[in-house]
Amino acid sequence: MPAITDAELKLLQTLVYQECGMHFDERRTAFLQDRLQRRLRECQLDSFYSYYRLLISNQGKQELTRLVENLTVNETSFFRNKAQLDLFQRDILEDILRHKQERRDYSLRIWSAGCSTGQEPYTLAMLVADALSYYYMRNPLPFDSPLPKPLVPSPWRVEILASDLSYSVLRAAQEGSYPEHQMSAVDYGYRLRYFDKVGDRYVAKKAVKEMVHFDFHNLKTEYLPQRNDVIFCRNVMMYFDEAEQKRLTEKFYRCLNPNGYLFVGHAESLLGLTERFQMVHRNSGTAYQRVEVRV
Ligand SMILES: C[S@@+](CC[C@H](N)C(=O)[O-])C[C@H]1O[C@@H](n2cnc3c(N)ncnc32)[C@H](O)[C@@H]1O
Repeated sequence: MPAITDAELKLLQTLVYQECGMHFDERRTAFLQDRLQRRLRECQLDSFYSYYRLLISNQGKQELTRLVENLTVNETSFFRNKAQLDLFQRDILEDILRHKQERRDYSLRIWSAGCSTGQEPYTLAMLVADALSYYYMRNPLPFDSPLPKPLVPSPWRVEILASDLSYSVLRAAQEGSYPEHQMSAVDYGYRLRYFDKVGDRYVAKKAVKEMVHFDFHNLKTEYLPQRNDVIFCRNVMMYFDEAEQKRLTEKFYRCLNPNGYLFVGHAESLLGLTERFQMVHRNSGTAYQRVEVRV
């Protein structure tokens, strides 16, 4: 296996950055080199420069997708960052439902950007379903809901859009089937209501799956889903450099409805990136709300 030269590494690093925004600083170049070596072997090429030539050629599009997939970190879990999810369910969602109902707007759109294998969007679906039924327990609808009660009571329409740039994680997410060891944060009540037990795995019920729509979106591009009430983009921006984080924050601003909310990961922050969001903080849960310009 040939050694990679500094110039080849730079070329490939730049190409990956242009393609998906992922930035490999000194702490992560060993990981990048390891993945590049694997792909080179797989493609049976004898130099990193010829691999680079392949990637920028028309025939190399598929290989570029594969390389990027191999560079993503897909670590995730159900109910990740409980304090943040409490803030989402108990305060923010409650507030959104009330305001929307006053305006007779019964649509709710939440986007999980960088959803990995689906634990985040399914967690959101469960939280939204519970929040809606608790809301209607206290504010009954003027008519009876059909039995068995649907997860999303009429006239509400809830869409949880879940996107990623890796096709393999999107396939797994769509299956919605998880082994026991990935379910540790899902308490029994949630398991009983929202999962079926199939062999030794837990599979998200059809009604939960119907709340979530999976799609491919590369956050590096300009064409991103609009009109969201809430965006979750957690543990994704940490792989981008500051310039890319700033660009993405601007895009998220435009992808949100007025007064919409953005959630980023526990180790991430919008501090120094933008003035267009204000921080909302409660019991160690943090979110960012879009600031509206008054005219
Ligand atoms: C560490 S996982 C985070 C999953 C989940 N949001 C969470 O916090 O548990 C990061 C995900 O972001 C995705 N990702 C990385 N760069 C991306 C990009 N440019 N566009 C879309 N998704 C991206 C990766 O494929 C990966 O699945």
